[in-house]
Amino acid sequence: MTSAEQLVRREFTQWVGHDPQGVWFAPGRVNLIGEHTDYNDGFVMPFALALGATLAAGRREDEQVRMLSLDLNESVELGALRPYDQPMATTGWSAYLAGVVWALRQAGHPVGGIEMVLSSDVPIGAGLSSSAAIECAVVAACCDLFELDIAPMERAKLARVAENYFVGAPTGLLDQAASTLCEADAMLFLDCRSLEAESVPLPLAEQGLEILVLDTRTPHSHVDGEYAERRATCEAAAKALGIGTLREVTDPDEALSRLDDELQVKRARHILTENQRVLDAVELGRDGRLRELGRLLDESHASMRDDFEITVPTVDLAVETARQSGALGARMTGGGFGGCIIALCEQGKGDGIAKQVATAFAEAGFHEPSWFSVVPSAGAHRL
Ligand code: GLA
Repeated sequence: MTSAEQLVRREFTQWVGHDPQGVWFAPGRVNLIGEHTDYNDGFVMPFALALGATLAAGRREDEQVRMLSLDLNESVELGALRPYDQPMATTGWSAYLAGVVWALRQAGHPVGGIEMVLSSDVPIGAGLSSSAAIECAVVAACCDLFELDIAPMERAKLARVAENYFVGAPTGLLDQAASTLCEADAMLFLDCRSLEAESVPLPLAEQGLEILVLDTRTPHSHVDGEYAERRATCEAAAKALGIGTLREVTDPDEALSRLDDELQVKRARHILTENQRVLDAVELGRDGRLRELGRLLDESHASMRDDFEITVPTVDLAVETARQSGALGARMTGGGFGGCIIALCEQGKGDGIAKQVATAFAEAGFHEPSWFSVVPSAGAHRL
């Protein structure tokens, strides 16, 4: 039993007065490549982390939703969260849990009252999907507790409904799909239009490689306007081209030449080139040529910095320093405006590279970063 499982079990029993009916875990994620492509019906390729949300839960006889966060030492109780309720019955951390119960009920699933005790070790606001980890753990718990027969992709979609309409962040499916569907030692290649998913092996250690995740500790928030603004500009570009989404573009150069608005050109160019980079990464992954992914990471970062304009000075300095210190490639990961970078490195080199970044940060007067080496892990499951 992990220590997080022990903790949520013990605290649940103390809080509720009897043992939980089970404990569920769902991971945070790193997106290897394919940024802001998901809501443009494009391609993404994340993998799940060993860090995640651990949730003890049990059914109640009534309709109440009771939630306790051990990390914040706060509890929230909602009496009526019926399908006819308006969203936003609660905000903050509890919205990620309550939102899933709401989304399941809204979709007609017979989800009754529930008690949930949460502990998560995914850093918040770091671009590692701390919110999706919570949502997907709650979906997994509800499916087991209320005997719901919901396929994995549908679970991810319901978790996204909670994020979009209850929490109010206009995100795509990337995070919830990763937290639900990823497999150990693999990346998840997802076509966000067809929703076809493929596990692509990521045997890092076998190939003498590691991936470093470095948190710049510049927090971000997707409820903020920048994310929604990028999304709106992509949609406007698609409309100007007379298509539903940028995914429908078949000839990128021709499409870009037809756009008059310079901002739309830049935003669309990022999406179109990023989709191609994901496809290139999938080929490298399928061929087991992981080392060569480095070049694609570098190109993706340049595109996010220059065309999509979602990087910030801390992130750019971290990527630049990682590269100069020997990384095979590096890029920001996640929604942007702060958060984490990933760097593909020779095995055993990650720590040294991170220390060089820390030195560069100190010289620039930035916060001290934190870092860890990833273990590509399995998606949501019962413990
Ligand atoms: C956030 C969103 C995702 C995705 C990424 C950018 O993580 O939640 O849906 O859009 O940003 O790739």
